[in-house]
Amino acid sequence: MCGIVGYVGSHQAAPILLDGLAKLEYRGYDSAGIAVFDGKKITSHKALGKLKVLNEETHGGATLPGTCGIGHTRWATHGVPSVRNAHPHFNSDETIAVVHNGIIENYIKLRKMLEGKGYQFQSDTDTEVVAHLLDYYYDGNALHTIAKVIERVEGSYALGIMFSDHPHHVFAARKDSPLIIGAGENGENFIASDVPAILKYTRNVYYMDSLEIASLSPDHVRFYNIDLEEVPKELKTIEWDLSAAEKGGYDYFMLKEIYEQPKAIRDCMSPRIRDGKVAIEELGMTDEEIRRIDRIYMIGCGTAYHTGVMAKYIFEDLARIPVEVDLASEFRYRNPICNAGTLVVVISQSGETADTLAALRLAKDHGLKTLGIVNAVGSSIAREADHVIYTYAGPEIAVASTKAYSTQLIAHYLLALKFGYVRGMVSDEQMGDMVRQMEELPAQIDLLLQSKEKIQKFANRYLAAKDVFFLGRGQDYATALEGSLKLKEISYIFSDAYAAGELKHGPISLIEEGTLVVALLTQDELVPKMVSNMQEVISRGAFVMAVTNVDHPEVEKTAQYCLYIPKTCRYFTGSLGIIPLQLFAYYIAIGRGLDVDKPRNLAKSVTVE
Ligand code: AGP
Repeated sequence: MCGIVGYVGSHQAAPILLDGLAKLEYRGYDSAGIAVFDGKKITSHKALGKLKVLNEETHGGATLPGTCGIGHTRWATHGVPSVRNAHPHFNSDETIAVVHNGIIENYIKLRKMLEGKGYQFQSDTDTEVVAHLLDYYYDGNALHTIAKVIERVEGSYALGIMFSDHPHHVFAARKDSPLIIGAGENGENFIASDVPAILKYTRNVYYMDSLEIASLSPDHVRFYNIDLEEVPKELKTIEWDLSAAEKGGYDYFMLKEIYEQPKAIRDCMSPRIRDGKVAIEELGMTDEEIRRIDRIYMIGCGTAYHTGVMAKYIFEDLARIPVEVDLASEFRYRNPICNAGTLVVVISQSGETADTLAALRLAKDHGLKTLGIVNAVGSSIAREADHVIYTYAGPEIAVASTKAYSTQLIAHYLLALKFGYVRGMVSDEQMGDMVRQMEELPAQIDLLLQSKEKIQKFANRYLAAKDVFFLGRGQDYATALEGSLKLKEISYIFSDAYAAGELKHGPISLIEEGTLVVALLTQDELVPKMVSNMQEVISRGAFVMAVTNVDHPEVEKTAQYCLYIPKTCRYFTGSLGIIPLQLFAYYIAIGRGLDVDKPRNLAKSVTVE
């Protein structure tokens, strides 16, 4: 979603804003703009399309001199992508500039009210009401004015604001959309939607809470609540390096992140294994509390939801706890049945996904115990959940999630093993054996990654595919869902995933001569059933690519093409089965000449509903 950067200091602001916005490109955008205060007035420039255009049109920022500014990449929600709708937005005499991420839900009402008072709007955006509302309430005191505006607007927002009456000041406010404040060391401070935008300049950040306002000048950062009482805030240090958020020789972030999976998995797993057993210290739940859990809700969106689907099979089998999996966008409007033994697990890479955050809050409103499985340290979900397990995947930049998925699976394995052990379902011997097999996964993934050429060759045969179907049973169904999402989101080829037993209840009518079907067969006891399903589609003209392990000669006999994964414990096969599917999606998208990291219409972090 939209990216925000703000700077106040002694250097020229525009080049810093452009550089920061470039680091936020991964969030997805369709237009961009910057506004800089030159000591007398605010000047701005906006451009449609890639940042390159804004960069060229402003000569790298040189046409906008000044040491204080705000910048924005826009992912259209209200109003088409256009220069007119690009941010920053202004009040009529351009003395107040605003950039915004989020959605002002009551903007129509506010716009009518403001138009009734003579305000004229230049864009179709919800954001512009904020600029005029600031003007309407302006009394010479910036903080006072912002607090009044915040009381009037409903919805979600991260705001960067400049007033020409307040030279060398940038103001920020947030509710439910991410915004961090970077504290520079040499008389400069920053605002940003995410860490990569400012990591070149500082590692010291403040995380703003919802309904807080920040005031930044070159030599101070102050935080206030809605009543304008100053709020003390702890400075946090970012531990990872900028290189972690750069391509490091790979053509695309997605490929880099696919290759980072063995390391990411190790980083997620190692701190939680002691003496051959799972030990998750940060869980903060006593064994007694774990024994009392009688129902788990797994909640997430997209890829995160798919790990929840996988987790259901594993938790129910290993820990004998009933698990319900729900899309966060559905759960948030349900009236969940729950009791004191219910645990709600919210899964999110970014920790900022609007629906997942809302689902978490709903669970908390019901008095339920919540556990976040989160990658982004300090994110809203991480801060609001009762307990957090960080996945330690490092920054994931490509829109298509890969290493976050793999580490979320590991977090589920660790939890399921722990819960199963504490509840007496997993013996010492089983625990030792499964931990040993889990520790082999990184090396096995490394091995699978070595066969990338084979997958690329196969992918090249299907560059013109119209639609692709992914089939699996049990845990393989969860992998099929994720494989299908990977393919459709970056290649724009229609694909869908089915629990293979459902084929005959409708989807088989879609199979025709040459249709590609990807069949997953990693669950030994379900292989015979899957082989029948493969035969059904082959006899209707489908071409079947199977992902399986070497123990099943009958699969090789039936499928037209086989990819093999190493043998592992039955609960962990999903970690291996997904690797060829990620590579398959990647190479199809590359072969079709697409921008793999920034697929059309998608944003990395979906911070609006
Ligand atoms: C994955 O490839 C997607 N781009 C998307 O489905 C993503 O997983 C989803 O938006 C959830 O994001 P989160 O993990 O940051 O909450």
